[in-house]
Amino acid sequence: MSKHKSDEIILVLTFLLLVSNLCWLMSPKRVKECNTTNSSKKNVQIFLLAGQSNMSGRGGISRKIVRGNVTDIWDGFVPQECKPNRKIIRFNADQKWEEAHEPLNYGMDCFERCGVGPGMAFANEVLKRDSNFGVIGLVPCARGGTGLYRWIRGSYAYDDLIKRAKFALKDGGTIRGLLWYHGEGDTRTINGSSSYKAKFEKFVHDLRIDLNSPNLPILLAVLPYPKKPFEGPYIEVVRAAQLGINISNVIKFDAEGLEIGSDGIHLTTPAQVQLGHMYANAFLSLKNFTSSTFSFYKFFPSNIFS
Ligand SMILES: *[C@@H]1O[C@H](CO)[C@@H](O)[C@H](O)[C@H]1NC(C)=O
Ligand SMILES: *[C@@H]1O[C@H](CO)[C@@H](O)[C@H](O)[C@H]1NC(C)=O
Ligand SMILES: *[C@@H]1O[C@H](CO)[C@@H](O)[C@H](O)[C@H]1NC(C)=O
Ligand SMILES: *[C@@H]1O[C@H](CO)[C@@H](O)[C@H](O)[C@H]1NC(C)=O
Ligand SMILES: *[C@@H]1O[C@H](CO)[C@@H](O)[C@H](O)[C@H]1NC(C)=O
Ligand SMILES: *[C@@H]1O[C@H](CO)[C@@H](O)[C@H](O)[C@H]1NC(C)=O
Ligand SMILES: *[C@@H]1O[C@H](CO)[C@@H](O)[C@H](O)[C@H]1NC(C)=O
Repeated sequence: MSKHKSDEIILVLTFLLLVSNLCWLMSPKRVKECNTTNSSKKNVQIFLLAGQSNMSGRGGISRKIVRGNVTDIWDGFVPQECKPNRKIIRFNADQKWEEAHEPLNYGMDCFERCGVGPGMAFANEVLKRDSNFGVIGLVPCARGGTGLYRWIRGSYAYDDLIKRAKFALKDGGTIRGLLWYHGEGDTRTINGSSSYKAKFEKFVHDLRIDLNSPNLPILLAVLPYPKKPFEGPYIEVVRAAQLGINISNVIKFDAEGLEIGSDGIHLTTPAQVQLGHMYANAFLSLKNFTSSTFSFYKFFPSNIFS
């Protein structure tokens, strides 16, 4: 490279650095415009969200007839608990961080059919209970209709999860946990249900290896019973498998009792808020959940992100 060229590059880099620094140091109102600086991502507290359609989010979806076609459409209602927050970002389908808002899974496994899931309620609740938690980065990876065999190394749902998790880390941050809501697909077959425990153990084992995070907290919602007329003949087998998981840092809670919507198979918006809070409780129950030894926020005015 010629001297002239490298001087030019240095000049440009210096200029960029100066501009980005200025942005940071100016009024907090400007933070949003400067949000593409790398420093805002260095200390992101990352959560992966995986499982089936309830994790993807179908809260507020109903069946409508649009110009003669039967279509599932979201009502657009976002409860207070799920509202955007400057401290919550999401990793979108184009592998970029952006301001998080419902529907969180948009572009991943749904478009019009995307509704409210547990992610935003989870993140808002964690921030409400620990205002020093930092910026939460949500990485939605759920896939509606997937049996657990799709979440095994080599299958697309699993491989995408790993790929997205690694991409999400490229500018820094720490993966703090995985939120898991899954199992309905496997309540329909003897095979799926009877192998659930072994497959889930393999999933956790491989996930922790592939993410180089041997103690990665996994928040496991035990699947509630289906509501009639929907049938999951092997629901007891799947529930028993999930309840029987005994792996360190896999935190289980029973999601039984959450309200199911008119379609009979998906959680309503209020139920998704409750579910999000269950995940927050599970996460905060980890005694040492604040493991950050270095906090970038300490070096900036505390109001910069509030
Ligand atoms: C209705 O559905 C059919 C078949 O999927 C599609 O070809 C058509 O474009 C749809 N009509 C409208 C108005 O969306
Ligand atoms: C980042 O800034 C862009 C442009 O101002 C804005 O559209 C986007 O929502 C912002 N994202 C976050 C996370 O604040
Ligand atoms: C920001 O991060 C990207 C990806 O890690 C890197 O290529 C780029 O040089 C970084 N920019 C600055 C200003 O540090
Ligand atoms: C169940 O598993 C057996 C053996 O792996 C396989 O041959 C069979 O096709 C499976 N059945 C279903 C319904 O998946
Ligand atoms: C809590 O600390 C213990 C011991 O250092 C460690 O094994 C465990 O993984 C930690 N839990 C979390 C969630 O970081
Ligand atoms: C969604 O969650 C409900 C629990 O309230 C469960 O009964 C249902 O089977 C789940 N649906 C899917 C598609 O996983
Ligand atoms: C879970 O496993 C640990 C050891 O790995 C054992 O001490 C404990 O009793 C087990 N708990 C249950 C409920 O099986």
